[in-house]
Parts: sequence; C-alpha cells; structure tokens
Amino acid sequence: MKVGVLGGGTMGSGIVQVAAQNGHEVILVDLNEQILIKSREALEKVLNRLIEKGKMSEEDSEAIHARITYSQDMHDFAPCGIVIEAIIEDLAIKKTVFKHLEGVTKPSCILASNTSSLSIASIGAALEIPDRIMGIHFFNPAPLMPLVELIPAVQTSSETVQKSKELIAGWGKVTVVCKDTPGFIVNRVARPFYGEALRIYEEGIADFATIDWAMTTFGGFRMGPFTLMDYIGNDVNYTVTETVFTAFYFDPRYKPSFTQKRHSEAGYLGRKSGRGYYNYAEGVAQPQPNEDKELGKQIFERILVMLMNEAFDALFLQVASRKDIDLAMTNGVNYPKGLLQWADEMGLDVVLSKLEALFHEYGEDRYRPSPLLRRMVREMK
Ligand code: NAI
Repeated sequence: MKVGVLGGGTMGSGIVQVAAQNGHEVILVDLNEQILIKSREALEKVLNRLIEKGKMSEEDSEAIHARITYSQDMHDFAPCGIVIEAIIEDLAIKKTVFKHLEGVTKPSCILASNTSSLSIASIGAALEIPDRIMGIHFFNPAPLMPLVELIPAVQTSSETVQKSKELIAGWGKVTVVCKDTPGFIVNRVARPFYGEALRIYEEGIADFATIDWAMTTFGGFRMGPFTLMDYIGNDVNYTVTETVFTAFYFDPRYKPSFTQKRHSEAGYLGRKSGRGYYNYAEGVAQPQPNEDKELGKQIFERILVMLMNEAFDALFLQVASRKDIDLAMTNGVNYPKGLLQWADEMGLDVVLSKLEALFHEYGEDRYRPSPLLRRMVREMK
C-alpha cells in the first residue's frame, strides 16, 4: 500500500520514516519546498547515524530514501491507500485540506489526522464520504515512541478502524483504540502528573526539586513533573492543559495553573529557552531536594492517586478498554506501570480513601473520586 503524509514538520517527517522503514512507498507533501528539503536532510542524518552504529546497512538506507517521494502537489496522493495528515493544528485549515484530499484520492483511501487536540468528528465533517476519517495519533519522536492512539470518529466505519489497526500494528507500534474525546487517552490521563504537582508547589508544600525527587524516587518515573514540563516546553504543556480544560466544559479537574502560565509568559519555557522551572545556564547549580521521606511519599501518593482517578474515570466513561488505558500510559509516556494495574497492587480501597481524604480536605470537585472506583471498592466487600 502506498502511504501519503501531508505536512513535513516534526511529526510528518517521523511518520514518513516509520512508513518507509516498513517497506512502503511514501509520498510526502508539504506546501513549503524548504521544509521538504529539511525533512530529507533530517532523515539522511538519522539513517547515517544508524549506519555508523551498525544498526542499518547502506543498501537499506538507500532503499528507504528511494521509496520516498517529496512533492508540493496533493494530486500525487492519487494512488495512496492511506493519507496521514500532520499539518498545523487549526481546525478550519484542516477541514479545507481534508475536503481537498477527498477530491484527489480514491474513495477507498483512509484519510487520517495526527491531531492532538481537535475532534476527529469535526475534521470528518468536511468529507462527502466521512466513514474513512480516522484519528491516528503518533507520539514525538514517531520513529522511537511505540504508542499510536487510534481514534475512530462517530462517522468512521469499522472497516476503516480495522484496516488502520492492522497497518499501524504491522509497523511494530503498540496500538490502542480510544473514543473521540478531548486529549484521547494519554493527554487526558496524564494531566494530574503536571496539574497536581503544580498545585502542591502552589500550596507551598514543596519546591520543584523536591516534587521531582519524590516522583522519581518513590514512583520510579523517569523524570519528575517539572523536569518533564521543562522538556516539553511550558508553553506547549500549558496549551494542552488549557485546550483539554476548555474542551471538557471547564471541568475543574483540568484547571490550568497560574504558576505554569506565568512561567510561560515570562519566557521560562524550559530547556529550549535555557530556563524553565530550572535554570539551564552553564555553571548554574541545580537546587537540591528536601529528602524528607515522609514528605516525599505523601507527594508521590497524592499525584499517583490523582492519576489513577483519571484512569478510572476514562474507563468509567468507556474512553478505552482497561488494557488499552494501561498500555497507553506505559508506551506513550513511559510510566513505570499501568495506572489501573498499579491501583490494584496498591489496593483499590487505599486509593479511594486517599482520594476521599483529599476531597474532604479541600471540598473541591477536582478531587471527586471516580464513580467506577467507588463501585469497585463496594463490590470488593
Ligand atoms: P510542524 O509545525 O512541525 O509541521 C507542520 C507542517 O505542515 C509544516 O512543515 C508546514 O509547512 C506544513 N503545512 C502547513 N499547512 C499545510 C498545508 N495546508 N498543506 C501542506 N502542508 C502544510 O508541526 P508538528 O509538530 O509536526 O505537528 C503536526 C500535527 O501533529 C499537529 O496536528 C499536531 O497537533 C500533531 N502532533 C504533534 C506532536 C508534537 O509533539 N509536535 C505530537 C502528536 C501530534
């Protein structure tokens, strides 16, 4: 099957590499010729590094390059069995583009979007035959991150879902299927990792370094929330939170944080600007955590139960299956364990009592335990 990719930026280039490495002929279309040149150069660099490391032969690298066509003309998508769109995150532009895509592809061609935050239904509404619309959400960097979220819209046919799943799983990716809801699985369930950490900081319970230390030491997370937000970029992470918050009709559980907003406004974006929650300038000593074990454990457990609560609610509202929710968090954001399995190990009654204590203490809807968790604890008795 020929694979089309629209948009040769960060994500599009990564998806092209994955498809071409898996033997597909790929057509990459971008409006901007310079982007196409950059995309080709970036791929050459990556493949050369693989050759140097002895992980790829010169012949394989040449064959991969030979399978990719770079073009500025969407008509070149005509023979494709699927086109994956990875252009700017703007609904009006995506809709115009999908209408155009429908005109230049065959009726059986799956039309997929890599959007992180727009509803697949709204993009599909631009199509005359919307049963071939699909959300196919890769994670950055696409060649390295194993997870791909598959998001059928209300219009999508089961055949489109099945074909997409077979294709992406065939590329060695871990696929999960989720409902067309804000943040899909990962960007929804992961919100408390950032939000609750920020809240703990705002309450003056601990500083950034201590919260990061608590999550890596007691939770086994590869990075603490503040180190991770500095990696992602505070502007990017803040926008995701605000988008999810708005899309959930201002559910207080997803409320963005002023601390993050101010850091973002100040230009403290993280590693990319040299300063975020931490200062990355050369020679600057990093702050040391307060290694009080009792405090560390409390911080870790508070963030963890909030994450688990989010996972239970996603399951409650049938966003995805239990297995897929756990797979998404371990493969999309490298959590040390699936949250639902982790909750089982911790004891569902323990998780619920910690959430109830937070809810009782603060009286905020943000801390309401998921009805599913309550039901499961009740049924355990
Ligand atoms: P990017 O800004 O790196 O690349 C977008 C590319 O699309 C640019 O090369 C631009 O020239 C091209 N483009 C814009 N309008 C076009 C049009 N009408 N026709 C053809 N090409 C056009 O963006 P990035 O980061 O690759 O994101 C692309 C999509 O993937 C967005 O929907 C984003 O939400 C989503 N996404 C991004 C992730 C990330 O970490 N960057 C992760 C997962 C999804």
